[in-house]
Amino acid sequence: MAFQFLCIISLLIFLSLPFSSFSKTEKCNPHDKEVLLKIKESFNNPYHLASWDPKTDCCQWYVVECDRETSRINDFHLFAANVSGQIPPEIGDLPYLESLTFHKITNLTGNIPISILKLTKLKSLTISWTNISGPIPSFLSQLKNLTLLDLSFNSFSGSIPSSLSQLRSLGGIRLDRNKLTGSIPESFGNLTPTLQYLYLSHNQLTGTIPRSWGDLNFTLIELYRNRLQGDVSFMFGKNKTIQILDLNRNMLQFDISNVVFPDSLTFLDLNHNRVTGSLPQGLTQLSLQGFNVSYNRLCGPIPRGGRLQEFEYTAYFHNRCLCGEPLPNCK
Ligand SMILES: *[C@@H]1O[C@H](CO)[C@@H](O)[C@H](O)[C@H]1NC(C)=O
Ligand SMILES: *[C@@H]1O[C@H](CO)[C@@H](O)[C@H](O)[C@H]1NC(C)=O
Ligand SMILES: *[C@@H]1O[C@H](CO)[C@@H](O)[C@H](O)[C@H]1NC(C)=O
Ligand SMILES: *[C@@H]1O[C@H](CO)[C@@H](O)[C@H](O)[C@H]1NC(C)=O
Ligand SMILES: *[C@@H]1O[C@H](CO)[C@@H](O)[C@H](O)[C@H]1NC(C)=O
Ligand SMILES: *[C@@H]1O[C@H](CO)[C@@H](O)[C@H](O)[C@H]1NC(C)=O
Ligand SMILES: *[C@@H]1O[C@H](CO)[C@@H](O)[C@H](O)[C@H]1NC(C)=O
Repeated sequence: MAFQFLCIISLLIFLSLPFSSFSKTEKCNPHDKEVLLKIKESFNNPYHLASWDPKTDCCQWYVVECDRETSRINDFHLFAANVSGQIPPEIGDLPYLESLTFHKITNLTGNIPISILKLTKLKSLTISWTNISGPIPSFLSQLKNLTLLDLSFNSFSGSIPSSLSQLRSLGGIRLDRNKLTGSIPESFGNLTPTLQYLYLSHNQLTGTIPRSWGDLNFTLIELYRNRLQGDVSFMFGKNKTIQILDLNRNMLQFDISNVVFPDSLTFLDLNHNRVTGSLPQGLTQLSLQGFNVSYNRLCGPIPRGGRLQEFEYTAYFHNRCLCGEPLPNCK
């Protein structure tokens, strides 16, 4: 065992020696290397990209990964980097990219370059926790292979481009924590049935929620801290698949008394809305892990049983006349 271990160690040392003959076994595609070095330069050669040494194999560099078979760069993941400037348009010249991420880069500004449309193989696009601003480009709808679009925690403004509903392979969309205004586009009434996750929270969205969302098989919807109005009871029903629904701090108005909740529901937050009626008995049948209906216009006794008495009184306070454990007894 120890002998084998020694062999492996010496092999590793041997492999890491900088013999010039090893350049022949370099896997990196020369075109990709050239593009990456241009990207490094346009970011002013930051310390974060110090491993990007032209004399070494780019498949070994930090931030990027090569495909095993083609050895082309297929993953670019710049995370928590002290890097300043805009997304270099050269990023569009890495034609084998399947996943592109810029995450937690405060000094990343500007918008998304249109050259990104050259990345026809792109499946996952994440630009989050940056200072990228301006409207969300509607051309993103041309990245037909996207399964994930995450533009959360940036400074995007303007309305949600209606073209995004043309992305028919999406499993998840995150546009939360931006400065988006206007209503949810009408086209979002026809979102792809593959969509499971939708985050639009912490924007300034107005108007109502498309009724057809009630027919989709969502797992998670977060729309909290917007100015959405109207009835959302169509999101519920016995045959739904929703697990997490967070609609807190909107202006939603509906009677909850006759709502039938799906068994799948584990988290429901409706605090700070205009929900009326009384809490239905069916809530006691759910395996709720989170529940909050505070600051609404509810009335009547809190049904006894299930998890409902396990939440603290703040989950129920500030309603019209809700009563019973964990609130004071009904009169
Ligand atoms: C952002 O840029 C400023 C000035 O250009 C610099 O002082 C600061 O350290 C940078 N911060 C980060 C987190 O990159
Ligand atoms: C970021 O990099 C700039 C120059 O490249 C440097 O002056 C600054 O101190 C760095 N900031 C942080 C937070 O590391
Ligand atoms: C955007 O930049 C400002 C400074 O210009 C900084 O205070 C802020 O934290 C940045 N925001 C994000 C989300 O990085
Ligand atoms: C999606 O990716 C495949 C390869 O994985 C490619 O052949 C196809 O052209 C791409 N589709 C689009 C619409 O770009
Ligand atoms: C739930 O049932 C209704 C009719 O009762 C049907 O119209 C709807 O498509 C079903 N939804 C799902 C997600 O299966
Ligand atoms: C949702 O799931 C149900 C049951 O799995 C299925 O019958 C229905 O077609 C699905 N609806 C959509 C829009 O995919
Ligand atoms: C419910 O929401 C209210 C309002 O945001 C908050 O004050 C309270 O702590 C929450 N309670 C629970 C149990 O989540």
